[in-house]
Amino acid sequence: MEQDDRWWRDAVIYQVYPRSFADGDGDGVGDLAGLLSRLPYIASLGVDGIWMTPFQPSPQVDQGYDVSDYCGVDPLFGTMAQFDDLLEAAHALNLRVILDVVPNHCSSEHPLFRSAVDAGPGSPQRTMFHIEDGHEGELEDEPPNNWQSVFGGSAWSRIDPGSATDRQWYLHLFSPDQPDWNWRNPAVGDYFEDVLRFWFDRGVDGLRIDVAHALFKAEGLPDVVGTNDVVDGLRSNPQVSDQEEVHGVYRRWRRVADSYSPARVLVGEVNLDPERAARYTRADEMHQAFAFAFARLGWDATAWAATGTDLDAARRAHGAPPTWALENHDLVRTVTRFGSGECGVLRARAGLLALLGLPGGAYIYQGQELNLPEVDVPVEARMDPMWTRSGVSRDGARVPLPWTTAPGCSFGFSATDGVAPWLPTPPDWGSRSVETQERDEDSILQLVRTALTLRRHLTKDGVISSDDGGDWSVHDGALLLCERGRQFLVAVAMGDTPVPLPHGHVVLASSPLTVEGLLPPDATAWVLRS
Ligand code: GLC
Repeated sequence: MEQDDRWWRDAVIYQVYPRSFADGDGDGVGDLAGLLSRLPYIASLGVDGIWMTPFQPSPQVDQGYDVSDYCGVDPLFGTMAQFDDLLEAAHALNLRVILDVVPNHCSSEHPLFRSAVDAGPGSPQRTMFHIEDGHEGELEDEPPNNWQSVFGGSAWSRIDPGSATDRQWYLHLFSPDQPDWNWRNPAVGDYFEDVLRFWFDRGVDGLRIDVAHALFKAEGLPDVVGTNDVVDGLRSNPQVSDQEEVHGVYRRWRRVADSYSPARVLVGEVNLDPERAARYTRADEMHQAFAFAFARLGWDATAWAATGTDLDAARRAHGAPPTWALENHDLVRTVTRFGSGECGVLRARAGLLALLGLPGGAYIYQGQELNLPEVDVPVEARMDPMWTRSGVSRDGARVPLPWTTAPGCSFGFSATDGVAPWLPTPPDWGSRSVETQERDEDSILQLVRTALTLRRHLTKDGVISSDDGGDWSVHDGALLLCERGRQFLVAVAMGDTPVPLPHGHVVLASSPLTVEGLLPPDATAWVLRS
């Protein structure tokens, strides 16, 4: 592995959602053995590393984001020895490994929460969490404040609804199975420093920080005044989002990350507007924060240019290059989000090629390189806790990957035939599989490989660099341009008719140009200027 502390600045990372990637032991749930066997595939894409969503011990209520032991491996996914093998194999393939850390909340089965429950009201154990008395109501006590859970309903549940003596409530911004840590208790910070060191000592290259902007809650836990709807990533609850004290956590974590050689990397799920999010990537805090403003956009040139410009301004103010992502395990797949039928397919392909040409780092979510659509998972098969609490299901982006054309073994996902995958795969899944796309030289899979090879060459030749800014513009309402440096630009046709491209040489395009040399609608071109 190259020793280069700046590698992350323009790295392309492949997000692995382990339970849906590859099932090595044949129980219908993806695991570490499956991932290990498919690492060469990931390396063949030309990415710089992987980000793995949680595989630590967990009751799996929120598919692993309810962690009961931060320093272990859930037997569902394998063993710590398998994780060590995976890390070694990834490094041998020149792939960095980034793990998820979930510091906002844990599982209600976490031993520290269990001991807080058992220790009773007034105990020091309860101060590790937000455990409070409620307000006395006429019939029942009422929760300590009016905060809403992201998954729907009140953000508070009674510790023991049946108890007449213990009438306290605990805070859970997500499901009741995910109690929030109390970051105002210094013991919580110390606990998480040990977690960081545990994985860094094992050799992991970085951590993705879940719900990074919400760890600190406003002092005194005041009610939300006015709109009280937190479904949009907590952004509309000012009492939990973006409290100033949270930056102290990342300064401390950066010192820990920097004390390793090579330095470890921190990437935050900071679901805020570009200007506020950029404050998390100041030189002594995280390295990267996902450009979520971008992931929320539709297929609209003006909106892309405006958001791109804001992100670039934020970057200039605080130094870190943007970190692009259009998909992840929480978002509707772009094929479905950008339009219906063929136009959605073309736009998702164009969107991904655009992303890979922009200055900064980029994350590809597993299956995005296959242009997988959002699946309408049958209601009875939905597993997302958000579905039961609020009627929104994220399962459609989490369906197991199709590896082969044969329906047996769930299109190559599972090692055993006849075992039902944890989410059902649609009957046409094989036509989108890796096997199908390997055989088709025009597939999006091959486009991604070509794009990443070219990106590497252009970087090596100094045509593009991680220090580039992006200069965004829209022409005739339909052609989006992002110019980086003097020699390279990304052009995206977002209108209804083919558009002329700026002078230069098209080195790659997501769809063939028209005979007149125009860029057709819903296509991206990388243009090299002489
Ligand atoms: C993050 C994760 C999401 C999870 C939530 C609660 O947003 O990406 O999947 O449900 O945090 O941990």
